[in-house]
Amino acid sequence: MKEHAELVAKYPATQGRAQLRVAIARWLEKRFVLPSIDPEHHVLPLNGTREGLFALAQAVVSTRQAGGVICPNPFYQIYEGAALLAGSQPLLLNCDEHNGFLPDIDLVTPAQWQNCQLVYLCTPGNPGGAVMSSRQLQTADRAGPRARLFDCQ
Ligand SMILES: Cc1ncc(COP(=O)(O)O)c(C=O)c1O
Repeated sequence: MKEHAELVAKYPATQGRAQLRVAIARWLEKRFVLPSIDPEHHVLPLNGTREGLFALAQAVVSTRQAGGVICPNPFYQIYEGAALLAGSQPLLLNCDEHNGFLPDIDLVTPAQWQNCQLVYLCTPGNPGGAVMSSRQLQTADRAGPRARLFDCQ
């Protein structure tokens, strides 16, 4: 350990080691039967998912209008923080006993979809624990925002 201490006595590169990204890309192709994952452009190792949940909003949200980010309510708190710091007031989809504690995607109007740049969905939900059905996930996927982030913790 002493001999190699200098290798770990510094912060790693933000994009992680090439060998790790290649291993992740090959695993994704195998696990999800994907045609081609480019380790240089499609993979970013993270120190926990919160980092990615936050960073993605900063990368894809350019609107300064309310509703650029849609997320369930209640929510894992980083969705709101990421939306606010990206300059957007989140549009909250309330999850309560009337909708089985799940965000009702059908309530989003075409005008709201037009403005939306990112949707956070969490299944099983946090803190409610409700699981979205395949139909609900497909509806969300078809709805048309530029980015969707499925937080499956
Ligand atoms: C729903 C949900 N998403 C994301 C996270 C972040 O997890 P981590 O950054 O530890 O991977 C948590 C942590 O509690 C969570 O509950």
